[in-house]
Amino acid sequence: KLAVKLDHSNNGNNIIKSLPQIKDADYENNKLDIFRGIVASMISEFAGKTADEIFKLLEVSRNPELGDLTIALPRLRLSGDPINWVEKLIPNEYITEISQAGYYLNFRYSYPLLAKILLAHIYEKKENYGINQSGSGKSCVIDYSSPNIAKPFHAGHLRSTIIGNFVKNVHVANGWKAIGLNYLGDWGKQYGLLAIGFEKFGSEEELLKNPIKHLYDVYVKINASIEGNPDVDEKARAYFKKMEDGDETALALWRKFRELSIKKYMETYARLNIDFDVYSGESQISNESMMRALNILKEKNIAEESEGALIVDLTKYKLDVALLQKKDGTTLYLTRDIGAILERYEKYEFDAIYYAVSSQQELHFKQLFKILELMGIEWFDRCKHINFGMVKGMSTRKGTAVFLDDILEQTKESMHEVMRQNEKKYSQVDNPDYVADIIGISAIMIQDMSAKRIRNYSFDWTRMFSFEGDTGPYLQYAHARLCSIERNCGLEINPSANLDLLTEKSAIDLINMIAQYPDVIKSAKYTLEPCTIVTYIMKLCHIVSVTLETLYVMGTERQLAEARLLMYWAARITLGNALKLLGLKPLERM
Ligand code: ARG
Repeated sequence: KLAVKLDHSNNGNNIIKSLPQIKDADYENNKLDIFRGIVASMISEFAGKTADEIFKLLEVSRNPELGDLTIALPRLRLSGDPINWVEKLIPNEYITEISQAGYYLNFRYSYPLLAKILLAHIYEKKENYGINQSGSGKSCVIDYSSPNIAKPFHAGHLRSTIIGNFVKNVHVANGWKAIGLNYLGDWGKQYGLLAIGFEKFGSEEELLKNPIKHLYDVYVKINASIEGNPDVDEKARAYFKKMEDGDETALALWRKFRELSIKKYMETYARLNIDFDVYSGESQISNESMMRALNILKEKNIAEESEGALIVDLTKYKLDVALLQKKDGTTLYLTRDIGAILERYEKYEFDAIYYAVSSQQELHFKQLFKILELMGIEWFDRCKHINFGMVKGMSTRKGTAVFLDDILEQTKESMHEVMRQNEKKYSQVDNPDYVADIIGISAIMIQDMSAKRIRNYSFDWTRMFSFEGDTGPYLQYAHARLCSIERNCGLEINPSANLDLLTEKSAIDLINMIAQYPDVIKSAKYTLEPCTIVTYIMKLCHIVSVTLETLYVMGTERQLAEARLLMYWAARITLGNALKLLGLKPLERM
């Protein structure tokens, strides 16, 4: 049954009356799917396969000289006489050219038509251009950032923050409900130690001024005084015991440390354009849920006693032996993570849960997920560790302990210096401090997201600030430049501009690249790699630069100027949306 209805009566123009129904096609959100659907349906008529199957085999052509869309014929697995495809398939108003090169069958879209459909769509969707609803009804939890109170916020936490936020945004962009969770390291004997330290070295005033830094200072001092002083250690243990037993005075101090730290973190996160739905932490996991899990593990003979401690032997799975409870009955990081995930499932009934944590904790998460599986939890396969490699050389100039705030200050200053090198431009920037902050943060984030997550990289203070090459400043500059065209051209965006006038190769390349954005959002959901998006926007920005060199808006005859302006506007919307997806704030001027 041919789903594409062609109307041959119209002077030989093949007009398509209704689109073929294809399972994976998202005609509403992805306008390239219209063209793919039509091609799939055309082929299916002769291939003895459904359009659904063929749709999956279509690829974006790697050689635009030959066409926009391609299919490798051997993948159709046809038997019988060879088909003369070029003769059988008749071009129509959507697909203007069909050709064969070796094993490949190539198709070319009608460009004025794609441009018209696409730009009307973007004009309607604006900041929602690119997203889809494929995950509607599904929900996920993302555990990310998760620093430890009174310890440095190190590069691993920064990566977790950036990558976790991205994973969250990508899910939202694919129609999921996403809950962002900050699981603070806020429990354990070291908080007893911190309290003891605060009595000795603390200052109420300093605490209010900069809680994170002050608590760290106190922690370092008290740690140093432990040496040769077993008394301090004993006191810390006793203090933490009081906390675990719910002693109100002990808990009040700890709560104050925690709340002040969270408040300060929230300010810094806001600067990074990030917020959390929930501030949780190891302290929030109830004893009851941990014990419930431990009992199941004991009953099922998965956990066993060993020298008074409770362990799970996972050597069979090459996952070592996991310790769940110490001799004195206290629990561990892993035990709390077991309790935490059970509580989270009870609360959210998530379809997926992600932990954005460095690959140094690979074993920890493998153990956690394996233990869930052994417990007989049927949703164990919804858990995923979003791992990433290390960053070398992220420290401030003074080389002191790393606080996120200091890194961001340093970045802003350095960016400011770079900006000052161009006196003329610098003098035109309204709010240089704000702009330096945003570009600086973009520099850090793009540097972090340019390669596969698992790769280690070195923090490069010089390279990441460059306006050339694949950097954050380059992307922000491209965005600001597109904004300035809109501001300065003296024309309004006209959604009914005559797009038939966009005939140059670079205009066609640009439209084609813009049209691929919904595909990229979809594939980012599978890779969960920020570089999927970064690579795309780099390509988009390169085409924008090339196009801007030859296709002017200003000084061009009005009709053509309006068509080009609409195209650049769509490029700006797409770039801005992609930057936001990565967690950046797109700049309008810089
Ligand atoms: N606080 C931990 C650390 O700094 C990271 C916590 C990650 N999340 C988790 N559920 N284990 O290493």
